[in-house]
Amino acid sequence: MYVCLCVGATNQMVSDAVAAGASTSKEVAAMCGAGGDCGRCRCTVRGIIEATLAAAPSGSANGSLRHLALEITPVGSR
Ligand code: FES
Repeated sequence: MYVCLCVGATNQMVSDAVAAGASTSKEVAAMCGAGGDCGRCRCTVRGIIEATLAAAPSGSANGSLRHLALEITPVGSR
């Protein structure tokens, strides 16, 4: 599902950014673009960050999640 219409970022892209180590909306914006433009989606992005981190296995914050991350292609870099 699209969460950021400005850059066409999906919830999966945001989750992948979190899995790759992003833990703030700024870090997600830097990785996939979501929330980096008009900002209307930032509340949704923060919700996805919280849900993704909450769903991660105990003790897997950031370091271990990076290991599981899919390669993310920043929006507009193709
Ligand atoms: S809708 Fe996400 S930055 Fe505008």
